[in-house]
Amino acid sequence: MAKILVTGAGGQLGQEIKTLSSQYPQFDFIFADRSELPIDNAELVYAFIQKTQADVCINCAAYTAVDKAESDQDSAYRINGDGPGYLALACRDIGARLIHVSTDYVFDGTSATPLTEDDPTGPINVYGDSKLKGEQQALINYYDGTVIIRTSWVYSEFGNNFVKTMMRLMNERPSINVVDDQIGSPTYAADLAAAILTIVTADSFVPGIYHYSNEGEISWYDFALAIRQHIGSTCTVNPIPSSGFPTPAKRPHYSLLDKSLIKETYNLTIPDWQSSLKTCISRLRP
Ligand SMILES: NC(=O)c1ccc[n+]([C@@H]2O[C@H](COP(=O)([O-])OP(=O)(O)OC[C@H]3O[C@@H](n4cnc5c(N)ncnc54)[C@H](OP(=O)(O)O)[C@@H]3O)[C@@H](O)[C@H]2O)c1
Repeated sequence: MAKILVTGAGGQLGQEIKTLSSQYPQFDFIFADRSELPIDNAELVYAFIQKTQADVCINCAAYTAVDKAESDQDSAYRINGDGPGYLALACRDIGARLIHVSTDYVFDGTSATPLTEDDPTGPINVYGDSKLKGEQQALINYYDGTVIIRTSWVYSEFGNNFVKTMMRLMNERPSINVVDDQIGSPTYAADLAAAILTIVTADSFVPGIYHYSNEGEISWYDFALAIRQHIGSTCTVNPIPSSGFPTPAKRPHYSLLDKSLIKETYNLTIPDWQSSLKTCISRLRP
């Protein structure tokens, strides 16, 4: 039975893969959270992967606190930059495939058209730069065995995310402000988890970088309005520019990902953001 190791299993994506795993009885899943497998520890990574002899490693572990990364750069670069490189080396040694997850924040946000895998990167914050280093480390160490999936605006039933924060704030406050000049597309982690398992079960494994998010193009403000509608809230949502909501880390103004390559290569159909948001909210509020 093929073994699939999932790192960062306690996070949003890790938990969505765990939820889906019962639909894949042909695999022996090993879910490792940070305490069991800290991906920034080269020796532990090597020993763990040698011991488990996994056939596929799905790396869901990351330092995802975008603002905190600005002042905690060492942790961000160690986990997001070095970690994927350690995983790639350990996977290469046993011939396991590595599926690593990266971000739209590797781009600078100045594009006016959906970003393809060939577009030039240029991160504008520490998180994005650390994730770009991680991509590079993984590919340098194990080009033939690594698939990297860049994704954006991830939310799910699990952990902390924009959808859950909006649902809470809309219950607590009469009005909220949400930025309307950052454009992209959300990603329901359950959809990304399903896409990753499609890649795992595909007839052929085609290494390289791919883009994945839900279909559609929106701002955070549009997203908030849709959340408001789904939960039937009367909270007023005001559109504001990013300059009205200063954060330690700068965010790209445009980071819509072009998904053509992953759809063609792995024959994927990607749900639109509205239907996935509806699914997630119905699971949060059955
Ligand atoms: N969230 C987003 O909006 C977003 C957007 C674009 C791309 N992505 C990427 O998508 C992937 C999945 O993100 P997510 O939203 O599922 O993130 P998440 O919910 O923050 O989960 C990340 C997990 O990694 C764990 N982790 C942190 N440091 C670790 C280490 N040194 N060793 C092992 N595990 C460690 C965390 O554990 P602790 O909680 O204990 O720290 C957490 O369980 C990541 O690669 C992320 O960069 C996310």
